[in-house]
Amino acid sequence: MNILVTGGAGYVGSIVAEELLNQGHDVVILDNLQQGHKKAVLPEAQFILADICNARTLDDVFSQFKIDAVTHMAAETVVEYSVTDPKRYFQNNIIGGLNLLDAMVKHDVHRFIFSSSAAVYGEPQTIPIEEDHPPNPNNAYGESKFIFERILDWYRRAYGIRAISLRYFNAAGASERLGEDHRPETHLIPNVLKAALGNSPVTIFGTDYPTKDGSCIRDYVHVVDIARAHILALEKVDNLSGGVYNLGSGTGYSVLEVVETARKVTGINIPIKVNSKRLGDVATLVASSSRARSELNWKPGLSELEDIIDSAWRWMKQHPKGYES
Ligand code: UFG
Repeated sequence: MNILVTGGAGYVGSIVAEELLNQGHDVVILDNLQQGHKKAVLPEAQFILADICNARTLDDVFSQFKIDAVTHMAAETVVEYSVTDPKRYFQNNIIGGLNLLDAMVKHDVHRFIFSSSAAVYGEPQTIPIEEDHPPNPNNAYGESKFIFERILDWYRRAYGIRAISLRYFNAAGASERLGEDHRPETHLIPNVLKAALGNSPVTIFGTDYPTKDGSCIRDYVHVVDIARAHILALEKVDNLSGGVYNLGSGTGYSVLEVVETARKVTGINIPIKVNSKRLGDVATLVASSSRARSELNWKPGLSELEDIIDSAWRWMKQHPKGYES
C-alpha cells in the first residue's frame, strides 16, 4: 500500500514509517518540521514539507500521490503546554485533523489510523484502564485527542472513513536507526539518560502523589511495539473500523523506579533533584491492552522497561546531540 504518514519526521511517526517500509509498503511523509527532524526521514520514504493546517496543500498532496491509507501522527503533544496554550492544541490537533479528513473524503481515501493517547482518560478511577473507562481529560492535549476520536466516528458514519484510534501510553525507546529528540525534551526517559550522559541531575516532578513512593506511575511501551500496532491496525481497519485500542505494556513504573532502572542499564549513579508537580500530570496511568492483544493480535514483545531504556541509551550514546550529531 501507499501510506501517508503525517508527523513522519517526529519520534513515533518516523518509527511508524520505518516499520511500514520494513513491511514493503511505500511511504509518503508529511511533516512541517517544527518538532520533527529531516534526518529522521529515511531515504526510502518520499518527503513533503507541509502543514496539516494548510488545507490547500493537503489537497495538492492527495492529487499528486495515490494514497491508500493515512496514519496520522502530526500533532502538538506536550501535556503541560496544552494547559497554558490550549488554542494551539485545538487548532493543530482538531482543525488540522479535519483538513486531513476532508482531503481524504474528497480524494476517496478511506483508511485512517489515528495516534490517540492515554491522556483522554484523565485521572483514572480504575487501574488497569480499559478502553470503556469514562474519558475525562485533565489537559487540552487529551481533550483534543478525545474530540478527534469522536469526529472520526461521525466521519465514519457519514463519509465512510474507516478508522482505528490507538491510545498510546508512554512511548519510549528507540529503533536501531531512529530515536527520541524533542526540543525542548520534556519526557522522562530521555531526560534521565541525558542526565547520565552529562553527569547532571534529572528533575523529578513531584514526590507527593498518592503512589507507592510518591512519584507518578506510568506505563512505558516500546515505540517499535507501538509502530507495529499501526501495521496490524492497517491490516484490520476494514473490519474493525471504529475500534479504539489502548497500547501499553500493562505494567506501571514510578518515576523513581525508572531512574533506578536507568542507573542499572547505564552503570551511572544518575543524581536527582526534586521539584514541584508539573501542570496537567496525573498520578497513575497503566493500560489494559487486552483488547489490542485479542483483536489486533498485538504482542508488545519489546516493552520490558530495561529493554526500552537499553535501546534508548544505545541510541543516545550514538547520537549525543540527537539528530544534530
Ligand atoms: N517527569 C519527571 N522529570 C522529567 C520528565 C518527566 O519527573 O524530566 C515525570 C512526569 O512528571 C511524569 C512522568 O515523568 O510523571 C512521565 O512524563 P513524560 O513527560 O515522559 O510523559 P507524560 O506521561 O507526561 O506524557 C506522555 C506523552 C503524552 C501522553 C501521555 C499520556 O508524552 O503525549 O504520556 O499519559 F499524553
